[in-house]
Amino acid sequence: MTDYVFDFSNRDAQNNADSLFVQRWSPRAFEKTSIDDATLERIMQAARLSPSCFNAQPWRIYTSTDATFDDYLNLLVEGNQGWAKDTSVLGFMVATLNFEHNGKPNAWAEFDCGAAWMSLSLQARMEGLYSHGMGGFKADEAAKYLGLDPEDQKLVMAFSLGKVVDPNSMDEETSKNETPNERKPLSEIWLNK
Ligand SMILES: Cc1cc2nc3c(=O)[nH]c(=O)nc-3n(C[C@H](O)[C@H](O)[C@H](O)COP(=O)(O)O)c2cc1C
Repeated sequence: MTDYVFDFSNRDAQNNADSLFVQRWSPRAFEKTSIDDATLERIMQAARLSPSCFNAQPWRIYTSTDATFDDYLNLLVEGNQGWAKDTSVLGFMVATLNFEHNGKPNAWAEFDCGAAWMSLSLQARMEGLYSHGMGGFKADEAAKYLGLDPEDQKLVMAFSLGKVVDPNSMDEETSKNETPNERKPLSEIWLNK
């Protein structure tokens, strides 16, 4: 799939990580396209293969269909609805809060959901698509809509999947804001001592 050329220069670093990591970012300018079932399945398989404490696999990933897309959209906060309406699939990462093997609380459930989301995000990138994570959703309403058990399930985050628009087709103001952001220096986040 053709990718558009964004400016990743503010993510440059000496001895940088693979371009897959540099080029994973969270755009807001999407164009509606349908993601075929096989592609979506590979993206979910990537999440499925993520590591987790006790291999509990505490993630449950809910994704919208064409029929439910607008329901999912309405469960996001307004600010996110504005851009997410043009994405192809909306989803929710749900953590299973208690271990299946002993019923005790799994303190790493949400952490493991984050790993699963990152895996699916990177697979999406490899498929020429983008994922954009969202903390801005109506938690109570969404939990009710999905029929979650409050004793055992927590809605951790929402996300979208889709195809970005060619920045050249956007007006200057929009395209200026649609730029990958930068990162703290490695020396600040890596304490090798
Ligand atoms: C848990 C989580 C919640 C986020 N919530 C939102 C959100 O509600 N709305 C939004 O536009 N972006 C949201 N983001 C995207 C972040 O702003 C973005 O990941 C961050 O600025 C780093 O930029 P990048 O993903 O483009 O590299 C969220 C990201 C994560 C991981």
